[in-house]
Amino acid sequence: MTYQTLDLTTLTPHIGAEINGVDLSKPLSNQQFSELYQAWLDWKVLVFRDQHLTRDDHKAFGRRFGSLHVHPMQHSYGGDPEVLAVKTSKDSKYTAGDGWHTDVTCDPIPPLGSALYITQTPESGGGDTMYADMYLAYDMLSDVMKGMLENLVGVHDGAMPYLSGYGVSPPTGETYPKNEHPVVIRHPDTGKKILFVNSGFTSHIKGMRPWESRALLDALFRHISQTPRLTCRVVWQPNTLTLWDNRCTQHHAVWDYHPNSRYGERVSILGDVRPAA
Ligand code: SIN
Repeated sequence: MTYQTLDLTTLTPHIGAEINGVDLSKPLSNQQFSELYQAWLDWKVLVFRDQHLTRDDHKAFGRRFGSLHVHPMQHSYGGDPEVLAVKTSKDSKYTAGDGWHTDVTCDPIPPLGSALYITQTPESGGGDTMYADMYLAYDMLSDVMKGMLENLVGVHDGAMPYLSGYGVSPPTGETYPKNEHPVVIRHPDTGKKILFVNSGFTSHIKGMRPWESRALLDALFRHISQTPRLTCRVVWQPNTLTLWDNRCTQHHAVWDYHPNSRYGERVSILGDVRPAA
């Protein structure tokens, strides 16, 4: 794919691209936006360096793709409900996203994408984010495995990361979302098949015995975490924004910089259709 208005440097042959020469604090022309949208579909993870954005600029950029999502744990973060602070310091008990996951798949319609703007990186270096290509994760499975997964449904439970993982209770009288999605979905824009289970949220496979479900999920999670070919790695510098397609990727924040600090803010874009086979 060639682009008229974008200068793009790829991170790997199939996932991740740095977009050079675009200032996200300025309105994007329609052509720029439609090429950026195509590049996002093509490369799944887009990295923009040296961006100087106010919170409103960041939100306005997210809104070009759709309305903004409010995170189920927002009550514990406070502040602007459409902005998730990603803040880790020496006193942190956890860092958000420190494990392979797709954002908020416990929602009936998970976000279609997220834009993370990192303004402070650890003095020690580190704090990268790894991304994995879930089209390729599906394509690399054997036909026997693909056939077996075809009609399976996964249960995605928000209590797993937010309550059991982070120890944050939901607001009084509420529970975290829990929803079912097909194990293999099709991307609504590209029509391509995607492996759609993640170790952050997928608790079990519907209708299987617990040991069967555990064994199958563990095998799929191992495939994702132990196949470096699926991945690219974003090495942050201050004022980098990364936009990912949340439907066909997983990511993993690497917390290798304690006791140093890292800070950023994330906006996520609401999906408009339920994940479907
Ligand atoms: C997340 O969105 O899961 C956080 C990613 C990161 O901090 O690198």
